[in-house]
Amino acid sequence: MIPFTKPIVEDEEIQAVKRVLESGMLAEGKVAHEFEKLFSAYVGTKYATVTSSGTTALTTALEAMGIQPGDEVITTPFTFIASANSIAILGGIPVFVDVKPDSYNIDPDLIEAAITKKTRAIMPVHIFGMPCDMKRIMEIAEDHDLLVIEDACQAHGAEIDGRRVGSLGHTACFSFYATKNILTGEGGMITTDDEELYNRMLMIKNHGRGKEGGYSHFQIGYNNRMMDIVAAIGVEQMKRVSSLVKKRRQNAKEYDRFLADFEAVRPQKQDPAFKSGYHLYVPRLYSDKLSRDEMVSALRNAGVGARAVYVLPCHKQDTYLNIQKWRWAKFVDYPDYSKVNLPISEDLGARHFDIPVHPSLTKEEKETIQEAIKTVLS
Ligand SMILES: Cc1ncc(COP(=O)(O)O)c(C=O)c1O
Repeated sequence: MIPFTKPIVEDEEIQAVKRVLESGMLAEGKVAHEFEKLFSAYVGTKYATVTSSGTTALTTALEAMGIQPGDEVITTPFTFIASANSIAILGGIPVFVDVKPDSYNIDPDLIEAAITKKTRAIMPVHIFGMPCDMKRIMEIAEDHDLLVIEDACQAHGAEIDGRRVGSLGHTACFSFYATKNILTGEGGMITTDDEELYNRMLMIKNHGRGKEGGYSHFQIGYNNRMMDIVAAIGVEQMKRVSSLVKKRRQNAKEYDRFLADFEAVRPQKQDPAFKSGYHLYVPRLYSDKLSRDEMVSALRNAGVGARAVYVLPCHKQDTYLNIQKWRWAKFVDYPDYSKVNLPISEDLGARHFDIPVHPSLTKEEKETIQEAIKTVLS
């Protein structure tokens, strides 16, 4: 089976981890700070801070933004559930707004209608690496005095007009989970230009300690730190991030050209000024002859690691259908998510599938993938 992902870990990573292990300083320190510097320079923000995962990056950032129980945060249902859960963990209410059928990203035209007196923030998710329409989203946020947190967990290297995602909202979160464009196994990063927000994040992720560390604590916080052992992998990955993203884009371009001949398959699309980082290559299927599940099975039988990831959008997941069981339901008036209808996300759930696009794909593997698609669709 041609895998949908192939983590690239070289001897440089092994040596870097070894150096940290031998140094005797294993926890968050010098190496993590080097990773932060490289990452903020890459994204184009003044500040970046490491976290233990993309999820803890999101919860740390949302808490620093002041999200309180009962506050509404507008986001997309067509995402990995961690986007919504990070809001709900804090007692916030995820308000799901439907996506655009071609970009699979939150539809800015629908955001304003979802804003209420309780809305505090918008969380666009650059799904599969494709940037959201950040210009429109920032304009809406400004008009309504809302904060914007980009969920860029899948979008390392994605750009709009030459500006990298992660620098376009008030803050942004990345994941370095083992399948991501760059990886540390588990890990995350928050980026921002806002010094006050940054200082609050530093406290929240480290038990409310002040910058000087020690045992004086100023507010409730967590241990959401990243070990230097892990950061060492990140530092080495940063040296390759541009070439890795470039290869993903080249692979995606080949698929775009190839799929142009097949009417039944339509790739994820966005404004030409938007460049995806292609964490995943995710077309959708419009066929009378073949269901998406049949397409995925046929591709898998042909040795292609095809999948369908968000078959159930967040509002259709038991987590949200059973939200009344969640601890915050005693204090927070949640919507009845079973009554939420988001037709585009639900339709996409039944149509999308992904094929391997990772940078280690060989020419032969790409040919096998294209041949398999041709056979399945003919
Ligand atoms: C869109 C999105 N948000 C958040 C997360 C959470 O990141 P992590 O798995 O590092 O906690 C992920 C990770 O897969 C993701 O894809």
